Amino acid sequence: MSELPVRTERLVVRRFAAGDVTAFAAYRSDPEVARYQGWDAPVPEAAARRLVAGFAAAEEGKPGWFQYAVERDGVLIGDVGICWAGNRMQAEAGFTIAAAHQGNGYASEAARCVLDRVFAAGVRRVSAECDARNTASARLLERLGFGLEGHRRRHTWLKGEWTDDLLFGLLAEDWRGATAGPSIFACRPNLLVANLVASLGFYADVLGFEVGWRWSDRQARFLTDDEPPEPGTALVARDNVQVMLTQVAGAHPTRLHLDVHTAAQVDRLFREWSGRGAAIAEPPFVRPWGMYEMRLADPDGTVLRVSSPAP
Ligand SMILES: CC(C)(COP(=O)(O)OP(=O)(O)OC[C@H]1O[C@@H](n2cnc3c(N)ncnc32)[C@H](O)[C@@H]1OP(=O)(O)O)[C@@H](O)C(=O)NCCC(=O)NCCS
Repeated sequence: MSELPVRTERLVVRRFAAGDVTAFAAYRSDPEVARYQGWDAPVPEAAARRLVAGFAAAEEGKPGWFQYAVERDGVLIGDVGICWAGNRMQAEAGFTIAAAHQGNGYASEAARCVLDRVFAAGVRRVSAECDARNTASARLLERLGFGLEGHRRRHTWLKGEWTDDLLFGLLAEDWRGATAGPSIFACRPNLLVANLVASLGFYADVLGFEVGWRWSDRQARFLTDDEPPEPGTALVARDNVQVMLTQVAGAHPTRLHLDVHTAAQVDRLFREWSGRGAAIAEPPFVRPWGMYEMRLADPDGTVLRVSSPAP
């Protein structure tokens, strides 16, 4: 296994250290964070110190739990736990992010980094469970590619009541299918045009292309079929070829759209190309039109937009 820490786009995934006790005790003491978890809030500082000392001393990949600390801008914001089975081929996962940092994709980003390590170490299957009312957790697991495998009714005695559990599983081949294999499956030129209506007329009426979606810059949304065209971007397609047309005034660099199946593959290309020294002008994030996109320029200034559907 590669050495910790690992840097992701926005986070550092690392071992726990003694300096984490206060931040760890603070987010685990939040009753909302603890609501569906096996521990009770608040977590006293002394208990946090014992737990953090145990995490810091644990060996990654050895049977039992290993807890990864998740850091953003030098601040501990959560943890991802992996419990390796005795056979080291199966594992269980758990995730916690401080309430103030939830809803930004940090749990997904940290979990992807940890799952990459776990599957690279030869694990065949990762299981996860959550309280059936814990929708944020179920959504996270689905976003990561876990399949729902069961619903155990009134199975766990938790905080004074019998609760339902959802059971999830993720196989190594699912993970490889989502994150490995060919990443870039199409390249679409994005032509910059002076007048979108005139260009659509040429491609549609003269060359026989179909007009696909049309995006209005002014309204920041896709237009419906019956709305008149407006400056923005449109897609035209014929046979197996798609061309994007964008109305912009003045001279601009050429654009190419590189289409990628999944956000995990965009993240992987971001890591690969950053690691090889590419200057990524805009790291991946979800754009207003729903695509997860990063942007970089080649030496001549041609802009490469690399995108997948949003996670
Ligand atoms: C479960 C838990 C870790 C999920 O955290 P989260 O922040 O919701 O998860 P993510 O990091 O994947 O963020 C996803 C959300 O951020 C949004 N988001 C914003 N920017 C994003 C980006 N760049 N990438 C992905 N998602 C992004 C998503 O739209 C999504 O919102 P939605 O849930 O409203 O659809 C968190 O709720 C938690 O710590 N709960 C308490 C502990 C717990 O119960 N753990 C689970 C035990 S099994």
